[in-house]
Amino acid sequence: MKIYLVTGGAGFIGANFVKYLLKKHRNIRLIILDDLTYAGNLGTIKTDLKDQRVVFVKGNIGDSEIVTNIFREYPIDYVVNFAAESHVDRSIENPQLFLQTNILGTQNLLDIAKKFWTTGKDENGYPVYREKVKYLQVSTDEVYGSLGETGYFTETTPLDPRSPYSASKTGADLIVVAYSETYKLPINITRCSNNYGPYHFPEKLIPLIIKNILEGKKLPVYGDGSNVRDWLYVEDHCKAIDMVLLNGRIGEIYNIGGHNEKKNIEIVKLIISTVRNLMEENKDYRKALKTNSSRSDLNLQFPDNPDWINEDLITFVKDRLGHDKRYAIDPAKITKELGWYPETKFENGIVKTIRWYLENQDWVEEVTSGDYQNYYQQMYGDR
Ligand SMILES: NC(=O)c1ccc[n+]([C@@H]2O[C@H](COP(=O)([O-])OP(=O)(O)OC[C@H]3O[C@@H](n4cnc5c(N)ncnc54)[C@H](O)[C@@H]3O)[C@@H](O)[C@H]2O)c1
Repeated sequence: MKIYLVTGGAGFIGANFVKYLLKKHRNIRLIILDDLTYAGNLGTIKTDLKDQRVVFVKGNIGDSEIVTNIFREYPIDYVVNFAAESHVDRSIENPQLFLQTNILGTQNLLDIAKKFWTTGKDENGYPVYREKVKYLQVSTDEVYGSLGETGYFTETTPLDPRSPYSASKTGADLIVVAYSETYKLPINITRCSNNYGPYHFPEKLIPLIIKNILEGKKLPVYGDGSNVRDWLYVEDHCKAIDMVLLNGRIGEIYNIGGHNEKKNIEIVKLIISTVRNLMEENKDYRKALKTNSSRSDLNLQFPDNPDWINEDLITFVKDRLGHDKRYAIDPAKITKELGWYPETKFENGIVKTIRWYLENQDWVEEVTSGDYQNYYQQMYGDR
């Protein structure tokens, strides 16, 4: 039996990974460590927590006592570190928190894993570790910086982060590499492009646009909407991490991407037409519309005909500071070495995702109460 420490398991990708693992592998134990920040929600994993294979610990990855206690109580085989402050806009507002969680938190996990996994020393003084243990750092394509019109990020592309978020993720990657080089700690790093899918916190582009449509709000798009991101369905990312954990070569970095580049404005237009079509097809989906919008001043009455869901809702807002122009991943290495490829076509994944949001408005309301309202007001005002 393998025992996993999954950090950030109550967040978007971490929770999807927990669900993926529980379905894929029978003989496992998952210890989820999550500090339940605004981005983490126990509601996201409530059914998983009923599974006897799962233990939840609330705590900070930077808290050495909590992490030590976990390693003391459970003989952890794999650490998969999803826990992070993950939103670029928030990093522009409060960079220090990003450095604390993303860099120092990562270093704390590495240090305690190293301590508990060490069984002795070799003749050169390097630690010798328990067999078949591994630390996997979940990183991002943003560490490579920004691309022009052409080209792709490969694993050897120089690191060139631009935002406080990407700089903190780069710092984390470098300390992971340092533990691999200096102490021979068995590690992998995965660098993935933008994920989309169920349980995505509605401050990020796709769920934010869906949420705003349902509330009859304007749809804010940064700059002229021409920034390009490479979108991957979250389950495909989870599958890649599982494959790297089980079969990735020790010490290696793997890029994960969907070969699916889209301009932000294309994504927004696609969401508008998909929501409208789904509501035309199935009247039940109109129940997701918020007639009691949080904005009582609107006193919304949605017309029966969903034609009002159209591109007139789009409003271009002042561009994000230092907004990276284009990201695009070359995933050839993971495909060649491990046989991974993105299974979910974007056309299908986006419809699946939008249906999920239309059918799971309770979840959206649960995670966006409280802190989120203040944050939205601060970023976009009354739009
Ligand atoms: N979302 C993407 O498109 C994307 C793409 C590539 C890589 N990544 C990386 O994947 C990881 C997960 O991203 P996500 O989108 O699921 O993020 P998220 O913001 O949805 O979730 C982060 C989770 O980490 C928890 N957390 C935050 N600080 C913590 C701390 N100090 N200690 C313990 N728990 C803490 C939060 O409570 C939350 O549950 C991150 O490391 C991110 O950098 C994300």
